[in-house]
Amino acid sequence: MTRYIFDPFGKLYAERTGSMVSSEIRDLLSITARPDVISLAGGLPETGALSPEVMAEIAREVFLEDGPGSLQYGPTDGYAPLKRILCEIMALEKIHAHPEEIVITSGAQQALEILAKIFINPGDWVVVEAPSYVGALNSFMSYQPRFITVGMDEEGLKTELLSESLTALRKRGERAKFIYTVPNFQNPAGITMSARRRARLLEIAREFELLIIEDNAYGLLRFEGQPLEPLKAQDPENVVYLGTLSKILSAGLRIGWVYAPAPVTERVLLAKQSADLCTSSLTQRIAFRYFTTQNWRGVIEKLVETYRERKETMLEALEEFFPEEATWTKPQGGFFVWASLPPFINTSDMLANAVENKVAYVPGTGFYPDEQGTNEMRLAFCHPPPEKIWEGVERLSKVVNRELSIARSLGLDIKNKNNKRLEEP
Ligand SMILES: Cc1ncc(COP(=O)(O)O)c(C=O)c1O
Repeated sequence: MTRYIFDPFGKLYAERTGSMVSSEIRDLLSITARPDVISLAGGLPETGALSPEVMAEIAREVFLEDGPGSLQYGPTDGYAPLKRILCEIMALEKIHAHPEEIVITSGAQQALEILAKIFINPGDWVVVEAPSYVGALNSFMSYQPRFITVGMDEEGLKTELLSESLTALRKRGERAKFIYTVPNFQNPAGITMSARRRARLLEIAREFELLIIEDNAYGLLRFEGQPLEPLKAQDPENVVYLGTLSKILSAGLRIGWVYAPAPVTERVLLAKQSADLCTSSLTQRIAFRYFTTQNWRGVIEKLVETYRERKETMLEALEEFFPEEATWTKPQGGFFVWASLPPFINTSDMLANAVENKVAYVPGTGFYPDEQGTNEMRLAFCHPPPEKIWEGVERLSKVVNRELSIARSLGLDIKNKNNKRLEEP
């Protein structure tokens, strides 16, 4: 993106645009579209499970059978027949909704933007997992909240830390408005929140009158372990649930949805009306026709197999090539592995070397609203074929190992969490 040193409109922009910065990292990652770079950066869903001929035929039938409808504005809450299908999809995860309770949005991303708009005043406290989905952070940030970040372990959000933070706020006479969580195969960490943490989170949310925003973008992409009940299924009155077709059908259709408590739904509708009037009538009909004519459950099974194979390749490659000083998560579904390196390695600085070595990842800092994550990185296994993942991890490990050997030659204790120089003998 072009950066303007002198912008004649500089004095006109709203303060909230201050947080909308184009980072050098984003610029570097744009290079990774080059075919010689193996990108473990972008979370691009696999599209190969859908036949272009079948999708073309579906689009043709939509135009022939419902041309006027597909070329026209539609209701703000969405195309009713598709809403019935979305309820069926949620029922697969034990969420029982009526079509009139949901609002179709232009991707789950629009739902995040709308929720930020209707809930956040400047200075409000909102709670996010650390790390968290960067698209949500960006939407929230433009409404100028203050963030409480709560770390995760292999069971997901550390609920006791959450409780402590909320207690501290309460003692100061303050409160947080909502917590945003991605409980299944989180983007970016690949972690799944355990059943007991889910139960505890619901308890804490009730105790502190904290609304939960549950983003279940990856829930149906589980390749191992038992499905866990969504928060929404357990406490429909206190959870705003977000779904998307981007990961099980197509990100290009731009279809997501919100299933919220009724009063919230009213506000969501008003905000959506002023955002875009309605989600595309055409793509909603294409999606509906796809679900009613195709073996979509079979397509999901195929996708799960594809992602399982890619995840296994990535974990095997990390085991094979990455140094013992590194750690990484072992996702049971979704798209991402989260790797942590010794603290003196700055993954933002290291990215240029990685790109020079023709491999890319996303540095950790973008996934936190504060200064955390400097030694962390997100590795996406969703898009490259297995042989590219293997080679990509091998290339990346060379870059990491070079950082380690520089550190050793400088006398840094590479296992020391505090990154102190070794004591002189
Ligand atoms: C956790 C999460 N939420 C929401 C989205 C946005 O999805 P959509 O394509 O439906 O806007 C993504 C996309 O990567 C995501 O990872």
